[in-house]
Amino acid sequence: MPAAPDEGARLGRSAGEALRRAAELLRAAGCGTPRLDAEVLLAHVTGRSRESLLARPEGALTAGEDLAYEEAVVRRAGGWPLAYITGRREFFSLDLEVGPGVLIPRPETELLVEVAVALASPPVARSGPGLVLADIGTGSGAVAVALASLLPGVVIYATDTSEAALEVAERNVKRLGLGGRVRLRRGDLLDALPVPVDGVVANLPYVADPDWEGLPREVRDFEPPGSLRGGPDGLDLFRRLAAGLPAYLLPGGFVCLEVGPGQAGPVARLLLETGVFETVARHLDLAGHERVVSARSGESAARSGGCATRSGAPATRSGAPAMRSGAPAMRSGAPAMRSGAPGRY
Ligand SMILES: C[S@@+](CC[C@H](N)C(=O)[O-])C[C@H]1O[C@@H](n2cnc3c(N)ncnc32)[C@H](O)[C@@H]1O
Repeated sequence: MPAAPDEGARLGRSAGEALRRAAELLRAAGCGTPRLDAEVLLAHVTGRSRESLLARPEGALTAGEDLAYEEAVVRRAGGWPLAYITGRREFFSLDLEVGPGVLIPRPETELLVEVAVALASPPVARSGPGLVLADIGTGSGAVAVALASLLPGVVIYATDTSEAALEVAERNVKRLGLGGRVRLRRGDLLDALPVPVDGVVANLPYVADPDWEGLPREVRDFEPPGSLRGGPDGLDLFRRLAAGLPAYLLPGGFVCLEVGPGQAGPVARLLLETGVFETVARHLDLAGHERVVSARSGESAARSGGCATRSGAPATRSGAPAMRSGAPAMRSGAPAMRSGAPGRY
């Protein structure tokens, strides 16, 4: 870890000088965006905008700011994710609190939100106000609050097994004034839902065991493994979620799942094997990667006993129909949607 400069050197430094030194340190530490990170961190510790700091580089930092900046830069040089140092991350133009113990929302997850919003919006029969959705594995609450802000009148149950994540999510939900419509529940996958829902949206852990060691250190050493690891092939949670869907999804409802590289096909098959979905689609990000798999259950699934009913507890799975051999073809070349950086992890 780089040594901090001595106290005397810090006092009276100008913003410009502090930035220059910080960028040097971060570059030497192998940071991919040293100057940008240096600016973001200085804005964070001074409470000023990057623009105002750059407009007056000769302005002196106070000793307290200088010390706080040095600490922040040393942490970043040691591999700490920028968002854990600033405690903030923007997602769908919403300012979210994040911190150790909760996954930092990724830009590519915005595609998951966009696909879910399209599936929950008119002219689809089950859409609009009154709809009840679930965000399974909510983490910071990013997907749930984005859905709630984009879908007025829709209620979202946001679940997670992690108490640390739910505490952060609760603060985000409250700060954004969405407490009435985003309801947090602790529990395993769909078990935490008090009622069957019209749509299930999830960004589950999906890193396969063999890929774990190859993750960037910044991810592997700092973000919670329980947010990332999905078992031998990355699909452990998808299998369990798919098995539970017939009991928790209302007829005509949808599911929308973010997936990792090479997982869209297997996840689409898992959904079709439940026997309740009539259509399955695979959605590309702008980098051309299959990033999201969505499916809608048939209204007839209710009649055959394959889907949940809103009256009372979720239906049991016993009546779920067997896999339909003539399942509809997947629309694999679904139109590319918005971007995301390539590969999340
Ligand atoms: C990839 S993170 C997604 C977080 C957030 N939805 C996002 O997109 O930024 C997966 C989340 O699932 C949670 N999780 C892991 N296993 C779970 C389970 N069995 N039931 C519910 N949530 C689970 C983790 O704690 C983590 O918050």
